[in-house]
Amino acid sequence: MRSSVFALLSLAASSLAAPAAHQHHHHQHQKRDVSVSGSISISGDLSAFSNPLEKFQDGVHSCDSVPTGQGVISVNWISGLDGGWTTIMNGNGDTSQKCKDGYYCSYACQAGMSKTQWPSEQPSNGISVGGLLCKNGKLYRSNQDQDYLCSWGANNVKFDSQISKNVAICRTDYPGSENMNIPTLLSAGGDAPVSVVNGDNYYTWKGGRTSAQYYVNNAGVSIQDGCVWGTEGSGVGNWAPVVLGAGTTGGKTYLSLIPNPNNTEKPNYNIRIEGGDDSQGDCKYENGNYNGHGTDGCTVTVNSGNAKFVFY
Ligand SMILES: *[C@@H]1O[C@H](CO)[C@@H](O)[C@H](O)[C@H]1NC(C)=O
Repeated sequence: MRSSVFALLSLAASSLAAPAAHQHHHHQHQKRDVSVSGSISISGDLSAFSNPLEKFQDGVHSCDSVPTGQGVISVNWISGLDGGWTTIMNGNGDTSQKCKDGYYCSYACQAGMSKTQWPSEQPSNGISVGGLLCKNGKLYRSNQDQDYLCSWGANNVKFDSQISKNVAICRTDYPGSENMNIPTLLSAGGDAPVSVVNGDNYYTWKGGRTSAQYYVNNAGVSIQDGCVWGTEGSGVGNWAPVVLGAGTTGGKTYLSLIPNPNNTEKPNYNIRIEGGDDSQGDCKYENGNYNGHGTDGCTVTVNSGNAKFVFY
């Protein structure tokens, strides 16, 4: 199923490709705390559009918990995972509750950022692994080309809420278990950055580019309840009513609304992609229909400038 989600984006990507520039606006440099709910407060994250400044030091941090800060956040509501990690897996696909020697310990980055760590050698059976490697009880970068654990991608897209309840938007941990446990809280009437991965230098799967994938819960579902691997019929996590994709390739940004075969009930909001003046395609999910008819999902291509997923 995962590969078909990626296929939608790469299909659009391969059929429409030409270079275009995109710029980053807005630079702010203050720190802030982000409360994802009443009981979870994530501190040490960077504000939107400020870059990490402290390089990660290999062999220093204990494997016991996620080294938060510099964009790295701790995820503490997932049962069966200690220490704030998002996936703990070795190259054989074995999982573990604790981050321990020989395992890749994957982590969440704050909204808008993406993890930089995964080994270039991936298991041959098609599973993916990502995160920091635990050796002798200490954490090491699995991708030595990157000094920081989180990076901003194209950074040109926002979630924009025009509704009166919060929305838990849950990115899959990939490469990793694909648990949709990487949180973005879109607060009522607010906005939040979208992680737009650069498919030309991000993780590839069997030679294909990949994009950021989000499961979007009904408004009113909390991060803790919604950013989890759901159970059948629960309507949350992998059973959420909307899936989004975001990525760039060749300088163009591709933004998609993707039907979730696990949940065809309409969400308790409408959602549309606004690509700006220099974009192609129409894409909205309104009253249970994509673009007024059908169930196929849709993509907008943003050649340059900024774009939004608008909840209304
Ligand atoms: C639907 O749920 C099944 C079982 O939990 C899961 O394997 C599958 O990936 C889900 N589909 C989507 C599109 O998330």
